[in-house]
This record gives sequence, structure tokens and C-alpha cells, in this order.
Amino acid sequence: MPHPVMPALTVHPQVLSLLAGLVEDRAGLHYGLDDRALLAEKVVPRALDRGFGSLLDYYYFLRYDPAGDAELDRLVEALCVHESYFFREVQPLRVAVEEVLAPAIRAGRRPRVWCAAAAQGEEPLTLAMLLDERGWLGQVELEATDVSLRALERARAGVFGQRALRALPAGVLGRWLEPQGQGAVARRELVEAVRWRRLNLMDAAAVRAMGPVELLLCRNVIIYFADETVRRLVRSLGEALAPGGALVVGASESLLRFGSALACEERGGVFLYRAAR
Ligand SMILES: C[S@@+](CC[C@H](N)C(=O)[O-])C[C@H]1O[C@@H](n2cnc3c(N)ncnc32)[C@H](O)[C@@H]1O
Repeated sequence: MPHPVMPALTVHPQVLSLLAGLVEDRAGLHYGLDDRALLAEKVVPRALDRGFGSLLDYYYFLRYDPAGDAELDRLVEALCVHESYFFREVQPLRVAVEEVLAPAIRAGRRPRVWCAAAAQGEEPLTLAMLLDERGWLGQVELEATDVSLRALERARAGVFGQRALRALPAGVLGRWLEPQGQGAVARRELVEAVRWRRLNLMDAAAVRAMGPVELLLCRNVIIYFADETVRRLVRSLGEALAPGGALVVGASESLLRFGSALACEERGGVFLYRAAR
């Protein structure tokens, strides 16, 4: 029996497994058996939209057709969760500015920061505001990447909806964000202080080539990856860190059980994963 919300396609669990494998190989996104319905909800409309009458044909197209590669990227786009907002988990950002960037700036260096799953830019732009507050915006090199071109396009446009503003402290609107309708527009200098580009975290060579960076933010993305993927990713992120550089993951994420070569330091209630000096 076809699934009720997907009237035109039968979803065979085995085919869904094949598709889950393709998605995981491409972008790391892991769909365990319990999450397969979520995967089906996104895959079926795309397959129908592309004119496929069977999910297996869609799988073969993705896997073997010359146009399949671009379609797989579009499928990944549809699967990515871009949830983010300004000043989300801001304490780790404040600690990283103080503990990692301030010493480098005071020593006369221009530290590099890489925000590795930047979504629409709320996270790197929050960091840019914290730096601007200290008069350091021009003294730091800011890079922001994401696998999603659509998210990056929105980041470059600097236009944000109401949800992105839900944790704004007083004084931000009018200074770094201008109200527009229900949302806001980021000040141009702030958006332009960040270099935005596409990078898939599964591309270990591209990850390594981002280095050396003093501060690497990779927050609220490894939750979507399987343990083995995180282990591999942490290895390549570690290789992108400058000596003594720090990696910060999300508040609900921890690298401790992965036994990485990075040393975990607690500072002001925040965990910094440091490369050896
Ligand atoms: C939930 S958002 C997190 C945004 C931000 N870091 C934060 O903490 O608010 C996760 C982001 O990871 C991106 N992402 C997922 N898989 C990725 C991959 N393989 N490479 C790069 N980015 C990826 C998604 O496109 C999405 O924008």
C-alpha cells in the first residue's frame, strides 16, 4: 500500500536504505531506521517532481546518470536543517573571543576564524558583532562555509526573518541589524567582513585546506552525523587548526567519547578542543 502522504510512489524500505546511504556518503547526514520516514517525506516529492514513477529509478538516476550528481546536491539541500538564530549559545563565542582571539590580536597577529556550518550566517555575524563591540572586526579574518548554496545566498543577502531574531539582546537592533518588516537586515560592513563560500564537511581535503585557523566553530551539525563520520571529521578539522587553535562544537555536542587528539579545556563553563602548541 502506498504511504498516505505520498500517493503516487511506493516506498520500499530497501530502496530507502540505498538512498540513505547515498545521502550519507555525500553529506554525512545519517538517517537511521527510525528516521527513514523523515527521509521519505523529502525524497518522494523530489522524485515525483523529477518525473520518476519509482524510487528505485530515482536512486539509479542519482547514482549513475551524469545529471545525478547535481540532483543529489539538490536533495541534500532539501534535507539540511538550517535552524539558527542570532546570539544562539553566545557564551562559547564570548569565551572564544577572550581565550583564543584576544591573545592573538594583542600579540599583533590577525587570527583566522572559520565557522564551518554557518547556515544563513546568524552565527558568524553574531561573532562579527562581538568583535566589532571590541573594535576588533578588522583585526580578524572571518570565513563562513556551509554545504547549502541556498543558505549561503541568504547569508550574503543579509536579510533575516523574525525567528532569527528571537534571542537578540538589547542594543543590537539599530546598531548591527536594521529592522525591516517583521525581520531585519544586517549592516553591510558586517556581512562583507565575512568571506562566504560553499564547503562540504565530508570533503577532508577541502577541510584541511581551510587551515590554519585559530578558531573553528562547528556547532549544531555533528548531531546529524553518525559516530564514525564525526570521528573522521574531527580528524580533518584538527588538521585545519593552527598550533594552539581551538575547535568549538555545539552545547549539546561533545567530542569526549571520540577520543580525538585535541585536548579538551574547560573555560567559563565552555569546552574548547585545542590543538597542541
Ligand atoms: C542546524 S544548522 C547550524 C547552524 C549554526 N552552526 C548554529 O549553530 O546555529 C546546521 C547547518 O549544517 C549544514 N550542513 C549539514 N551537512 C553539512 C555538510 N556535510 N557540510 C557542511 N555543512 C553542512 C546545514 O546546511 C545547516 O546549515
